Order: sequence, then C-alpha cells, then structure tokens
Amino acid sequence: MNLPRHLAIIMDGNGRWAKARHHNRVYGHLRGAKIAKTVIEECARLNLSHLTLFAFSTENWFRPLQEVRFLMHLLRRQLLREKTTLMRNNIRFQVIGEIDRLPPEVRDVIADILDETASNTGMILTFALSYGGRQEITLMARELVRQAKLGLLDETQVDQALVAGLLPSSFLPDPDLIIRTSGESRISNFFLWQAAYSEIEFEDKSWPEFTLDDLHRILSCYSARERRFGRTSEQLQTR
Ligand code: IPE
Ligand code: IPE
Ligand code: MG
Repeated sequence: MNLPRHLAIIMDGNGRWAKARHHNRVYGHLRGAKIAKTVIEECARLNLSHLTLFAFSTENWFRPLQEVRFLMHLLRRQLLREKTTLMRNNIRFQVIGEIDRLPPEVRDVIADILDETASNTGMILTFALSYGGRQEITLMARELVRQAKLGLLDETQVDQALVAGLLPSSFLPDPDLIIRTSGESRISNFFLWQAAYSEIEFEDKSWPEFTLDDLHRILSCYSARERRFGRTSEQLQTR
C-alpha cells in the first residue's frame, strides 16, 4: 500500500458529539484525546514518517474562557501521559504554532518532551497548537522584509522554495493527506500554503467516533488515488 509520507488530521467534532449525547462539550475533548492516542500509536506502527495533529487553532482562543482553560489543562495532561508512549514507539515530538501564547505549565511540558524525544528516530509527531496558516504566512512575510532590509536578499531571489523554507513549519514536508472529521468540508486555517496538492478526506464521523478501521479505510482509499500535480494521467504512466 502506498502510504502518505505526511498525514495531517483536523480532529474536529468533539463538542457536537458530546452535546448530542447530553454531555458537556469538554467530555467530547476528553474522548477525543483518547482517540488521538490510539491513532498516534497506529501511525507509528504503520511506519508513517510524519503525523501532524491539529489540536488548537489561533481562532480557538476566542472560545469561552472555561473551554479554553479546560483544553489547555487537557493538553498538559495528555502530553504528560503520552511521554512514555512516545518513547516506547521511538516517536519524535514537534510543535508548530504560537507556542508563546500557551500557558507556562503547558510550555514546560512541551519543552521537556521535545528534549526527551529529540533523539528518537521513528515517526515525527507534530502537534499544531495555537496554529494558523495565515499567521504562519504572515510570519514568513515579516522574515522576508527583515532579510530584505538587512540587504540579505532582493525581490529576484523570492521564489517558491524560498517562501516555503521561511515558513516556521518548513521542517515538515507538505502533507500528502489531510483528514478532517465531523462532516465539515473546510480547512479552517490549517496548512494553507502546504495543502496546495494535498489529498483531502472529509469524514462524516466526529473525532470521538473515529476508529482505526476508519483510518485504515481512508489510507487504502488514499493509496488508490492518482496524484497528478497538474499533469495528465498519460504523463504519469510514462514516467
Ligand atoms: C475539535 O472539536 C477540538 C478543537 C477545535 C479544540 P470542537 O471543539 O471544534 O467540536 P465541534 O466542532 O464544536 O463539535
Ligand atoms: C478546526 O476546528 C481546528 C481544530 C480542529 C483544532 P474548528 O472547530 O475550530 O473549526 P471551525 O470553526 O468549525 O471552522
Ligand atoms: Mg469544531
């Protein structure tokens, strides 16, 4: 099977899933965290090179304070618990997004896990936290202006490779496959530049209902897709 080198998941639908079952939205986040753990382990077992989980967007800060607080608390708890899972599976942890905006107790755990897993050689697991594609592109533009002002580059040097390389998440290859759960067919400010040629799978189930069978089904569907990158089928066959 042709597996994606980089799988990215927009883990959506926790709140609605919980509310439909007469629970508080945060119960959905708790269940969602459990699913994330099983998906991480399965992706490592499948030997994926990169898994990125969109856990909190820059826009999610505008949610009710109580929910944001709970999400931060849950994130810290999940990271602390996942440390042994990451070590056991030789997974290297990474983060993208505005990490400075996270509470200090979350930043401390992140720093600790980044350090602890730094020499792991298996899958790279990236948490997108306070992440936004537009914010990332804005940071890249600032860096371009800064370098131009210093006389390090002029406009003739600005090409796609330079732009891609100045994005804060440039250490990641573009996602081959993006899965979004919860039935919403939108990208919600995730990987705007990087998703130019990503395959996108919109899954009707909400994240707390997502199973490893769903993951396997979507991966096998991905495997059968023809990625043409603007070319024709015939061109791909004669390569
Ligand atoms: C995804 O589930 C988790 C985060 C965005 C933090 P939601 O909390 O967005 O749940 P719905 O989409 O409102 O159901
Ligand atoms: C996208 O979900 C962000 C994450 C899953 C972390 P949202 O729930 O924030 O997206 P919208 O508001 O439905 O577009
Ligand atoms: Mg949502």
